[in-house]
Parts: sequence; structure tokens; C-alpha cells
Amino acid sequence: MRDRIEELQKQVQEMQVQNAEELEAMRIRYLSKKGEITALFSEFRNVAADQKRELGQQLNQLKQTAEAKLNELKEQYEAAREQADKQDLTRTPDPIALGTRHPLSLVKEEIIDIFSRIGFTVEEGPEVEDDRHVFGMLNFAPEHPARDMQDTFFVEKEEGVQKPDDILLRTHTSSVQTRVMTRQQPPIRVLCPGRVYRNEAISARAHCFFHQVEGLYIDKNVSFADLRQALLYFAKEMFGPDTKIRLRPSYFPFTEPSAEMDISCNICGGKGCGFCKQTGWVEILGCGMVDPNVLESCGIDSKEYSGYAFGMGVERITNLKYRVKDLRLFSENDVRFLQQFEAC
Ligand code: PHE
Repeated sequence: MRDRIEELQKQVQEMQVQNAEELEAMRIRYLSKKGEITALFSEFRNVAADQKRELGQQLNQLKQTAEAKLNELKEQYEAAREQADKQDLTRTPDPIALGTRHPLSLVKEEIIDIFSRIGFTVEEGPEVEDDRHVFGMLNFAPEHPARDMQDTFFVEKEEGVQKPDDILLRTHTSSVQTRVMTRQQPPIRVLCPGRVYRNEAISARAHCFFHQVEGLYIDKNVSFADLRQALLYFAKEMFGPDTKIRLRPSYFPFTEPSAEMDISCNICGGKGCGFCKQTGWVEILGCGMVDPNVLESCGIDSKEYSGYAFGMGVERITNLKYRVKDLRLFSENDVRFLQQFEAC
């Protein structure tokens, strides 16, 4: 009997439980009417009288240890449960900081979306270009001022590297159009979005790089009326159904005739305000009918085909839509600026 008491004493001391059921199971196992300790008390009646005193003490000791241990486990378990109850499962989780799309991307995508609904597809091309694709094939005279170092960034020749002299950063995405025209015969209907570079001092109103979306449509019998209609559709989709457009004669080497397009000022609705300098109109893009010289230099028969082209600055359109006053904000990556476009 002594061994049995010692064994149980050990078991009881090492007892562990995970939950209320296990705790109750332990109580039943040792202390209930049919429990192991209770059974020892029944046996105790048959113990020889001279051993009763010692064994009786041990047995009582065992019973007390078991009770104390069960109480201790119960307290532990209840404290843990109380802690768990304190957790509020209905609490909203910590917000996950979501990134935002850059306003220029938002507007670029919107321009692409509007033109894709009338059949335009997107073409891209290299930002580091050669003179031919940026100027030569687009009817720029050899001494045209755009080719000047003051306007264009040229890529310097590295020593020992064989490279033509006329590598530069494209100044407009019309270079992508020359690439498409030399590769593909009409019908052509493409949009050319991308970053362009011009050698300008950085200020609130000018930057040495900005973004354009240019468009080109070439087919049989394409007329100026088609151009006007496409641009009117674009202006209304972009700035609202009441928007009016106005085309003013202009000049570009690669289009003839050429025009600049204004929209009725979307801030004052055309009445005249500080933004439109009281004129009621704001300029948004350049356009025109593709010069036959350009078609011919790209291998397209100008007697059979005609086409129109247009080009706009994404920053300009973004300014009109979101009233961003300083161009530099677009490239500074200040999260306080970018977060304002979270909902767009
Ligand atoms: N490429 C011109 C620019 O960068 C824009 C333009 C494109 C004008 C097509 C007319 C036709 O300013």
C-alpha cells in the first residue's frame, strides 16, 4: 500500500490539464467515490493496526495534495479563460495601409480607355531613340531648333563604344508612330502613351520629363472631320457632356493642316475665370492631318491613304481634372499628395 500511495502522490503532482473537461476527468479519476484515492481509503480498513498510524498520515497527505493540485489547476485554467474572454472578437482589425495609384497613371488609363472604345489599341516604344524616328521621318528640317541641345537631351558617346552620334531621349511619343508606320500598312489606329524628355529648367510649370498620349489613325479617306469628331467625343467623355471644343490653326512639321485644341474651361464652365485667364477656353492638345511627306518616309502611299494624329500631355489633363498646381508634385512621391487619390 505504501508503494501505491507514493506512486499516486507522484502522478498527482505532475498532473496537467488543458480544459474544464480534463480537469473534471482528473477529479473523477482520483477523488470521486470510485476514484483511486477513495479506493485506498476503503483498503485502509484492512491495514494492520501497527501500520495504521503511519499509512493513515500518508493517505491523508495524498488526499490533500490531490485537492490542492486540482484547485491550483482550476485557478490557472479560469485565469486563462478570463483572459480569452477579454479579447473583443468584434473589434475592427488594424487597417491595412493600401497603396494608391499615381494620378498620372489614373488619367493615362482613362485616356486609353476612352479611345479604346472607338477602336484604338496601345503601342509602346523605346525612350532612348535615334534622330530619324524622333525628327527625321517626321519631316523636321535638318536645322530645326527642336534638334538643338537646348531642347533635346542627347545621349553622350561612351569611349570605345560604337554608337551612332544621334542617340537621344525622345521628345515626344510620335517616335512610336513612325515605328508603327514603318512596320505596318494601314489601316492603323494606335495610341502611344509614354514618358518624354525635354531640356527645360524644372519649375512649377515645366519639367525635364513628362508624359504624353499620342494617337494616330491612317486609312483610306480619313478627313479632318473624323479628327474633330474623335476629339469632341474624347473631350466630352473626359470632362463631361457639356464640354465644347475649339480648334485653332497651328503648326507642326509632321501635320498639315495642324491645329491646337481648346476645351471650354471646366472650372468656370466657359464664363471666364483666373484659370482660363478670362478667356473661357483652355488648351489641351495638338493635332492635325498627317503630312504626306511623313507617310512617304514611312513607306505608306500618300495617294491612297490619309490620316490624322494628335498628342496631349498627361500632366496637363491631370491638372485640369484634379487641379494640381505644381508639376513637381507628380515626381516627388510625397505620400501626402498621393494618398489624396486613394478613392479615385
Ligand atoms: N508631337 C507633338 C508634341 O509633342 C504633339 C502632336 C502630335 C501634334 C500629333 C500634332 C499631332 O507636342
